[in-house]
Amino acid sequence: MSRFEDIYGHAPEAEASAPGRVNLLGEHTDYNGGFVLPIAIAQQTRVAMRRNGQAQFSLHAAELGQSVRFTLAQPPAEHFASYVFGCLALAREHGAQIPPLDIHVASEVPIGVGLSSSAALEVSTLRCLRELLGLPLDDVLIAQLAQRAEIEYAGVRCGIMDQMASSLADTSRALLLDTRSLERRFVSLAPGSAVLVLDSGIARSLAASGYNQRRAECEQAAALLGVASLRDVAEVAQLGALPELLRRRARHVVTENARVLQAVDCTTAAAFGALMNASHASLRDDYEVSTAGLDTLVALLQAQPGVFGARLTGAGFGGACVALCEADALASVAQAVLAAYRLTGGAGRQLVPAEA
Ligand code: GLA
Repeated sequence: MSRFEDIYGHAPEAEASAPGRVNLLGEHTDYNGGFVLPIAIAQQTRVAMRRNGQAQFSLHAAELGQSVRFTLAQPPAEHFASYVFGCLALAREHGAQIPPLDIHVASEVPIGVGLSSSAALEVSTLRCLRELLGLPLDDVLIAQLAQRAEIEYAGVRCGIMDQMASSLADTSRALLLDTRSLERRFVSLAPGSAVLVLDSGIARSLAASGYNQRRAECEQAAALLGVASLRDVAEVAQLGALPELLRRRARHVVTENARVLQAVDCTTAAAFGALMNASHASLRDDYEVSTAGLDTLVALLQAQPGVFGARLTGAGFGGACVALCEADALASVAQAVLAAYRLTGGAGRQLVPAEA
């Protein structure tokens, strides 16, 4: 993979990185003002910058082997560049004077599987700008600007989980986040348990359109119930007046929020795992963001000795599954499940822990 020096011929002035994340519980709750429980992963995105003294910005993405030139007057057409452009534009809107830069991006975070490669790119870009220009941005403000970059420049009406996780989570404990107040605290995993993430190999088709549609359905349900957001609904019994489809969507959100709050009080990995299994069923049946391949992979994980629980993770429609396993069994679980998944015609791979 190329480095800044290889592309631009000299060293960068500033460098920064930010991790991807895997969400353990609390899916599709963040844009409803609810609770989430992500943990950072070891894979990082690294951004390097240098003032170039020219009229245009240059951006090189090492994985794609692609370079783009642009000015802040006009968003670039290339999708990957829109995340970086959005961060630059929003930092400027926030008062920063941003001179034209040479920018290099290198990422280990798998793209398009639900591990927040886009949040890692946004947060590392903003961290690098903060470092280069001495900007007064704290980690929460970085997450908020990063979320706006995703919504306003990449076209996904996401919540704030991914950017908060990339900006504030760590890899050893999960981050319990109230997405409405942004109150948060770290939560330890049960001793002897570990997180395994497998990619289903199914591309996330329809992710952006299906995602925005789910969000609109939740807003419709909240409006019909006369609440600001579904976070304000405490009991499934309050959903009875909704039309059937909206009732199922809202039931997922209400029960998922409850599962996150139960999970942080769990004393055993088995109890935590049972909540993950229930989350998957709810995402599959009520929220309808699973696919046949994800259901197969999750069922194989759930059936494997040494697995406490498993579910799809991220927005769904394809991508990755997360399982909580006995730490000692992790390698054998991954091997057995990937082999069984291959027999069903699937092509999976292990994403977390990252294989050397
Ligand atoms: C994507 C979004 C997040 C969140 C999840 C679903 O990752 O970026 O804001 O809504 O989907 O939980």
